[in-house]
Amino acid sequence: MDRYIVKGGTPLEGEVEISGAKNAALALLAAAIMTDEDVTIENLPNVRDINVLLQVMGEIGAKINRVNDHKVIINGSTITSYTVDNESIRKIRASYYLLGALLGKYKHAEVALPGGCDIGSRPIDLHIKGFETLGANVSIERGMVSASAEELIGKSIYMDVVSVGATINIMLAAALSGGRCVIENAAKEPHVVDVANMLNSMGASIRGAGTDVIRIRGVEKLHGTVYSVIPDQIEAGTFMMVAAVTGGDITVKNVIPKHLEAITSKLYEIGCSVEEYDDAVRIIGGPRLHSTKITTLPYPGFPTDMQPQIAVTLALAEGTSMVTETIFENRFKYVDELVRMGADIKVEGKTAFITGVEKFSSADVVAPDLRAGAALVMAALAADGYSEITDIKYIKRGYEDFDGKLRGLGAIIREVSDDREAMKFKLKAIG
Ligand code: UD1
Repeated sequence: MDRYIVKGGTPLEGEVEISGAKNAALALLAAAIMTDEDVTIENLPNVRDINVLLQVMGEIGAKINRVNDHKVIINGSTITSYTVDNESIRKIRASYYLLGALLGKYKHAEVALPGGCDIGSRPIDLHIKGFETLGANVSIERGMVSASAEELIGKSIYMDVVSVGATINIMLAAALSGGRCVIENAAKEPHVVDVANMLNSMGASIRGAGTDVIRIRGVEKLHGTVYSVIPDQIEAGTFMMVAAVTGGDITVKNVIPKHLEAITSKLYEIGCSVEEYDDAVRIIGGPRLHSTKITTLPYPGFPTDMQPQIAVTLALAEGTSMVTETIFENRFKYVDELVRMGADIKVEGKTAFITGVEKFSSADVVAPDLRAGAALVMAALAADGYSEITDIKYIKRGYEDFDGKLRGLGAIIREVSDDREAMKFKLKAIG
């Protein structure tokens, strides 16, 4: 089984280039099929979830020209099927964006219920409510969500819970509707703005993305565009935490510092040195960090996707920290693994009480999901000795060349597929 072997205990130093944002790119790819003209997407992250989505878009008939790892040209004029279902698509969350995109363009879509990391119950009721408000009939049968409409007419939609996925999905469908749609209590995440920007560059009329009221005037047709995905805020935040937890000095390049404010201000608060440049952030960790309180919130609050990484960082900080998770109820599954590495963490309800220890000890741990998996790699980098992280398929869903980028910063980490390879790597590292 594929796993990472990590020899920790060295401060990581140097520069790392951040890839395009996975969660933005997934929505942009779906949006790309909403025109019959070519859409070129650049700065695409080369990660598994993206490749799965491109594959199923190809299966329903879209032309996918993968120019290189980071650039694709999509043409949706050849789509022949509005039904999206295969084993891989059931495993990713963003399959639901094909519902909004196909419904908007063809007024009909049938997509397998979304999967994704097991971090909570993850309902799609708000997506459905949105489509129904626009005039679609939506049903769920045998694991498939079907939506169809004679026509879609924009209306006012109030989101009971702030949802990134539902906001983007409604924006997609409403972009090609009649009338005006107003999404109230919309998500304000950078990738919501990115999707609005790309749709606008295709001829849509979307105003207010990035605020909690988004106004969409439906248009009849969209046209082609060339668009570059924004940098990945969570990948950037993860490398910033790598600097903090290893007591290193890392310049994280190709970022939009504004998107990282919740993360940089927390790192500064706990004792890291933070320098901001136009498109880079430099973080210098430790010597010893101190405790804080954090609550995950929708943007511009502290992102839930950074919760495991900050928890690992605080597990080595002086004093007792409180980390409260308000978005997904099942996001502390890494805690048992971290405790096996010597962390002192108790979870009560939505809050983890973390008392900092001097050092982690190396251990063999299992990645329970994407972000928690990255957090466990961070812990291994900070621990003395060899650790193994298994189930790294989760990490590969969302981090491009994670081990390669870490090696570029001086980490001793290798992906291996069996015990023999693991032993060979250890012997070589010792030698
Ligand atoms: C997206 C991201 C995920 C990130 C999350 C929050 C993708 C592929 N995934 O997930 O990495 O952790 O945003 O930033 O982009 N909710 C409902 N009903 C719905 C939809 C959501 O109650 O119909 C609730 C969820 O249970 C959760 C909250 O709303 O408590 C936020 O979820 P949402 O923003 O929709 O997350 P995702 O789009 O699934």
